[in-house]
Amino acid sequence: YPLFLHAHDGKIPITSMPGCFRHDCKSLFEEIEAARQVGVNAVVLFPAIDDNLKTAEAEEAWNPNGLIPQTIKALKDKWPDLVVLTDVALDPYSSAGHDGLVDENGYVINDETVEALCKQALCQAAAGADIISPSDMMDGRVGAIRSALDQDSYTNVGILSYTAKYASAFYGPFREALDSAPRGGTKESYQMDPANSREALRELELDISEGADMVMVKPAGPYLDIIRRFREQTELPVAAYQVSGEYAMLKAASANGWLDEKKVVLESLTAIRRAGADMILTYFARQVGEWLNTSA
Ligand code: PBG
Repeated sequence: YPLFLHAHDGKIPITSMPGCFRHDCKSLFEEIEAARQVGVNAVVLFPAIDDNLKTAEAEEAWNPNGLIPQTIKALKDKWPDLVVLTDVALDPYSSAGHDGLVDENGYVINDETVEALCKQALCQAAAGADIISPSDMMDGRVGAIRSALDQDSYTNVGILSYTAKYASAFYGPFREALDSAPRGGTKESYQMDPANSREALRELELDISEGADMVMVKPAGPYLDIIRRFREQTELPVAAYQVSGEYAMLKAASANGWLDEKKVVLESLTAIRRAGADMILTYFARQVGEWLNTSA
């Protein structure tokens, strides 16, 4: 269940994602409590970071007293059995708004970025994260994060790799929620071309050889063919991320009375499952838990 949080008081609604919020500590705990009641026991945390903490080097990403590590600790103290997944990428922390460090032309610098991502992953593991999810799409980061974790004896921390993450326009509402849109340039130099499906299989081969425990396709609904090809190509668990724009579409049409919300949401998730996903990250997680736990 993907959740947004910030370091301030107040639960702030996200305009393009009705029913989703930037949570403060209190509302985050309430949301997770409610989700657990209906059987949703795994959360992915995404931070909205204050502008004055954003830098070119994104150092806040591995501050042990930062929002994410502190929240992970508090969550694991309260619910040791809660599965906590973290996002590894620099965009919420970077003044440029890119997933990696960028050069003077705004182009990501792969290898320096991978070093920074390892620091971020170690910081999250030290705080108690169960599963680290690199969403940045740099080359070689899965292998580098795996050895960094193993060297620091976090051998039991898993890696869910965003293996095939497309340069998609469906991430718009998420960037609004976190105020994390790139300040210049695009993400097309590291995220994948929506027209290319074979590249996803090369990314899959690399992530498997680098030691990913689970592989993810993102977005989900518009990329069912990629999910299916992953399912046929690997015995690893395949995850799919129904992203913010997919959520926004279903919500908006339902709010207008143009679609039956419950039916289309369940159908969209069934389709992702049918394509071959073992796991789905969706903003509908709690809602679906509620629907499936009541007979009406
Ligand atoms: C960035 C990140 C993004 C999402 C998850 N991690 C956005 C992006 O790449 O710009 C998008 C998720 C969504 O749209 O729900 N590291």
